[in-house]
Formats: sequence, C-alpha cells, structure tokens
Amino acid sequence: MMKRGIASKGRMSSKEMKISVIIPTLNEGDCIGQLLEELPQDAVDEVIIVDGNSIDNTREVVQSFGYNAYLQKSRGYGGALREGCEIATGDIIIMMDADGSHNPADITKIVEMMKEGYEYVMASRYLQGGKTEDDTWIRFTGNMLFTWLTNIVHGMRVTDSLYLFTGITKDGLKRLDLRCDGFEFCPEILIKAHKAGLRFAEVSAMERKRFGGKSKVNAFFHGLKILKEILRLRFQPDIYKKPRNQDFKKIFDGIAENYDAVSNVYSRRRRGEALVKWAKGDILEVGAGSGAVAMMLPNRSRLVVSDISEEMCRVAEKKLGVKAVCCDAQDLPFKNNSFDTVIASEVIYCLDSPEKFVSEAYRVLRPQGTLLISCANHNVARFYDGLRRLMRKMGISRMYFDDRNRKFSELGQLTSMLQQHNFEVREGKRIMVLPAPIGKWLDNVFEKSPLNHLGLFIIVRATKNVR
Ligand SMILES: C[S@@+](CC[C@H](N)C(=O)[O-])C[C@H]1O[C@@H](n2cnc3c(N)ncnc32)[C@H](O)[C@@H]1O
Repeated sequence: MMKRGIASKGRMSSKEMKISVIIPTLNEGDCIGQLLEELPQDAVDEVIIVDGNSIDNTREVVQSFGYNAYLQKSRGYGGALREGCEIATGDIIIMMDADGSHNPADITKIVEMMKEGYEYVMASRYLQGGKTEDDTWIRFTGNMLFTWLTNIVHGMRVTDSLYLFTGITKDGLKRLDLRCDGFEFCPEILIKAHKAGLRFAEVSAMERKRFGGKSKVNAFFHGLKILKEILRLRFQPDIYKKPRNQDFKKIFDGIAENYDAVSNVYSRRRRGEALVKWAKGDILEVGAGSGAVAMMLPNRSRLVVSDISEEMCRVAEKKLGVKAVCCDAQDLPFKNNSFDTVIASEVIYCLDSPEKFVSEAYRVLRPQGTLLISCANHNVARFYDGLRRLMRKMGISRMYFDDRNRKFSELGQLTSMLQQHNFEVREGKRIMVLPAPIGKWLDNVFEKSPLNHLGLFIIVRATKNVR
C-alpha cells in the first residue's frame, strides 16, 4: 500500500538517479553482514556506513563486503546520519538502520515513489499493508503518542513519525539545516521536511525483529528528548537557525560601535600576535571588524581592510586611518594576484561557505602568498559557549552570541580543506588563552605541552601553491 503525500505530485526528470544508502552503526557486527547481503544491488549505487567507533567487529565485517566504514567524528545517531549525508553523492539518499529491522526490500518501494517526484518518502509500519514484528506495548504506545502529537502540533498527517527508514532528495536535504545528534533527529528531519514543503509520501513497510545485538534506545530518556524536540520545533523554531551572511551583517552592524568593549581584549591580542608576525607585503584583512588585529601590524602603509558590515568598516577606518572596503569575504572585489598576505581572524565561522572564501583568497593572492586563518578550537569553544550562555542567563556576560558553523574548527579539517584548495600548510597550532593574562612564557609552555589541545584558537599559516 502506498499513500500519496500531502503536497501535489510533480514528476522528476526520467533520467536515472543515483541512490545512496546511509547506515549508521554502533556495535552491529552481528547484524550488519546479513543486512549488506540483502541490499538490492540493482537499486542501490552507493552504500555509506558511518560507524560510531564500534568496539566489536562491525568495521571488519563492513570491509569484508568491500565497503568503507567511515569513522564517525560527531556524536550520536543523528550525528552519524548527518555525516553520512555530507559524504553521500547520490541524488536520492536513503537512511536506514543496521540491525536488520528495516527490510532492504522496502528500499525499492521508496525509490519508486521518489522517481515519481516525491522528495521525502518515509516507510511506515502502521500504514495499511505494513506490519511490525518488533513492537512491545510500550513501543507501540510511544509510537502512536508521538505520531499523534507530531500531527497535532505541526499540522501533519503521518502514520509512523519515529520510523526513520526514509528517502530524501539531495536537493531537499540541503534545505533542512539539520542539527540534532541523538534520536531526536527522527522528528527533526520529518518536521523540517514538512516545514520546507518537500513533496511527501509514505509507503507501507514490514519491520522485522533485529538480527542480533542490542537496541540503543531507552524508551524513557530518549522519549523525553524526542518530546522536547517536537515541542521545540513548534514553539522555538528558530533556535537552531544558522545565521546566514546577511544575519551576521546585521548583528555586527548593531554592535560595531562597542565591539571593542564586548569582545575580550586579551584573546584578541593573543590571536593578533600570532597572526601579524607572518603578515608581509600587500596585506588584505577580511572580516577585519573594528580593526583590532590590523592595529597590531607594525606597518599599515600597504594594508587593505574589509568587512561585510558597513558599520564595522566605518569604525575600522576611523581607528586605522585606512580605507575599508565593504564586501563579502566569499566574493572579493579584488583582481587576481593582488596581495602577498590575506588574513581572516575569527571570520570563517560566520561564512555560509568557508571553502568559497578560501578559493577567493587563493585567487587574490600572489604565487607563494600567505593565507593566515584564526578560528575557535572546536571542543574548547563549545565549552566557552556553554559558559557564556550560563553567564548571559545570570546577567553577567556582555558576549552577544555564540559561534556557529564550526565545520572547519578542527586543525585537521581546516588543514585538509586548505590542501584541497591548493594551499601548502606551513604551520598549524593551537593558541592558549588562559583565564587571565598571566605571562607569555606560561602561554608558551602550555602551547608546547600536550595541553595545547585546550587552546582556544587554532591558527594556520598556508602558502599559495602554483602548479
Ligand atoms: C568576530 S568578528 C572578528 C573581527 C576581527 N577580525 C577580530 O579578530 O577581532 C567577525 C567579523 O567578520 C565579519 N563578517 C561576517 N561575515 C562576513 C562575510 N561574509 N564577509 C566579510 N566579513 C564578514 C563581521 O562583520 C565581523 O566584523
């Protein structure tokens, strides 16, 4: 039985579409082999296994089938699926579980519907024709309650909201801005797909008993998180909204006049010191803000500063006595080969596409020119965000917002992105910002010790390779 969706149907192009299947695994060595054997080879073009650091033989089993098991960098079930989505190259992405409860024979049904033009197709155990061999009365009651709640709260008409055996188009996925790490990813993707207006359908499915291993779902604990997510997406829909370029422009326009007062002087000085010693020749600083880093350059006669915020540009011009160019770092209004150094200090987390900025930096740099990037170090910055949030709640923090888009805030990730853009990474390090400016020598001692992993900033110096 197939149930056509809420929105109108629009047939996709008839050309063959590439199908990727994403399967998150965590200690599924007992199940994954049988599941991989059952995958319909004629319907699937790419299989992506994202493994959450299993301690059993999951990865070995996957590899014995000739597939790659990607080691998960993020956390949780949702984190694994989001990572899989980034890796997947298919036009259609199917998400399914590794434990055998999702029957691979149902993939064909999902794909058929998607080829008819639906953008989000979910399998349902409770649609007419569907069945489950794995329900306990607790699970059945929970599924019914959550499905009912999702329908009531979000104005939907689905029959099985938590069964994440789903197909989505790559284009549809790009519109969702998914954030959840845990099992609350299930309502998140469904509700966001609905809100984004994806063409939607359900197909009946047969849930089997898992082949082996243990379920990782705790009905009470995960149930509460799922409940919270369903309500949050209704009452605080913007909570996870990623600020886009234009949002940042507005934020920084608003705080330009007192930016120096709200941002931490000591941490600005630390990252500035680390960057300016490498800057030489004709220098461009993007996202220069109030000019705090540029101010530290010993010679500013060949400096150009730029920022997306007009107000910030005004403040920087006043402070530095140089002309500031108001522009987006991802679309620089400068000719090829114009600069010897490009600096981006605490900017790339604001960008929609840090990669686009890096290729622009490559273009405007002269051969062997230097790109200097500083950004917050992932886990430490998360800790600071938490602390800042707490202090804001207590009314004792002047910090205006938390960093977002930390895609490249790990040294390894940033380095490999730069290498992919033809930069040679000459130096990459983590900079300590101790709770108080105790002394340079102590900073240096920490930076040279294994404690450098706790550094608040990462700093990279790369040069433009020309082939
Ligand atoms: C955290 S401040 C950093 C300021 C300064 N570079 C520093 O290290 O103190 C980020 C700056 O980047 C700017 N910015 C945000 N998005 C940008 C974009 N797409 N292009 C250029 N600048 C941008 C903001 O307006 C803001 O001035």
